[in-house]
Amino acid sequence: MPSLVDLVLHGASELLTLGRGAVPRRKEALRDLGSIRGGALAAEGGKVVDVGTTEEIRDRFRGRQEIDACGKTVLPAFVDAHAHPCFAGDRAAEFEMRCAGASYEEVASRGGGILSTVAATRGASREELVRLTRRRLDRFLSLGTTLLEAKSGYGLSLQDEARSLEAIAEAAANHPVEVSPTFLGAHAVPPEFRSDRKGYMRLLVEGMLPEVARRRLAESCDVFLEKGAFDREEARAILERARGLGLRLRVHADQLSSGGGAELACELGADSADHLEFVSDRGIEALGGSDTVAVLLPGVPVFLRKDRDAPARRLIEAGAAVALATDFNPGSCYCPSMAEVLAFARLRLGMTAAEAISAATVNAAFALRRPDRGRLAPGCRADLVVCDVPGPLALGSGLGASPVETVAAGGKVVARA
Ligand code: NIG
Ligand code: FE
Repeated sequence: MPSLVDLVLHGASELLTLGRGAVPRRKEALRDLGSIRGGALAAEGGKVVDVGTTEEIRDRFRGRQEIDACGKTVLPAFVDAHAHPCFAGDRAAEFEMRCAGASYEEVASRGGGILSTVAATRGASREELVRLTRRRLDRFLSLGTTLLEAKSGYGLSLQDEARSLEAIAEAAANHPVEVSPTFLGAHAVPPEFRSDRKGYMRLLVEGMLPEVARRRLAESCDVFLEKGAFDREEARAILERARGLGLRLRVHADQLSSGGGAELACELGADSADHLEFVSDRGIEALGGSDTVAVLLPGVPVFLRKDRDAPARRLIEAGAAVALATDFNPGSCYCPSMAEVLAFARLRLGMTAAEAISAATVNAAFALRRPDRGRLAPGCRADLVVCDVPGPLALGSGLGASPVETVAAGGKVVARA
């Protein structure tokens, strides 16, 4: 007699389980999607209880809700491990300037860039920030993302950074997308400290970080280690202080120039080093031998009109745990779709479909240290997407038409295209 559970999904042409171990996939293991042809899944209490062939699962379970995934590909919902979803205003005029030949760095040095979004974000009410962020979470969800890293970094004062992190928490309250909030006060030096860098460093280290940690406003602390942003020693001071306060660490590393960011992230035991277009040979070696995840953001060079991409193949060969993310933000990548990131990863980074899918699920979950995400194995959260394609090769093989048809979070259908 089959037992009654909350959800049974059956008939998938392929069910990509991503396997059983909550360890990051490296090298050849990135290509193993743990696919079950004619796959099915049972979920109860928000978690996966079993996976198998449709025959096996039907013998054992009956669902209060059933999903017929006939002819479709089912995989864990996407995990987006790097995003900046809390901001006001837009930067469409900068996009136009870049299309006319100006570089991202030139636009920033003329007072545009991050600081123009800081001005707009400071000028928005808290309610407006909550509303904008929540609307973006809805969009992420419809595109198949159910766990999203969400950075502050457009406030850059104690009050405005706290307000952004509060807005992120409020937007995510009772929303199917769970957020992992990150404090990014070290995104840029704000205009009022232009001639007093040391003063801003003091505010970060002695004012903002202790407050963020005390009020548990963030899980992680991130630093933009880059020319024109924060240098290696400043980044080290901020990250060491954050670690001492119990925050986890991430680094915007080697995006526009080689700054030793990957090496620093590995040395400090950061959860991730992100971007990596200009990572050095030593940085690749360090990532290859560590649990610091190399989070690649292949949409960014496209939006910035740069020809340098992160050396994904060399990172994979070196044994790095490679993940993919959108970097959704108003300036350098206004794209919330992980399916499009898969396409950029295949087109620009030379990753295979299977590698890109592992990087957008199980490895991205590891980057956020959420072992029960990014896989469909017993005990994992039942967050999944049903894609209207026959197999994994079709994922990330197009732009614009999202393959995501149905999204379930915690075993409940939460979005349908
Ligand atoms: O990840 N690099 C720094 N931060 C963002 C860009 C933010 C912005 O331009 O507003 C990034 O690309
Ligand atoms: Fe970023």
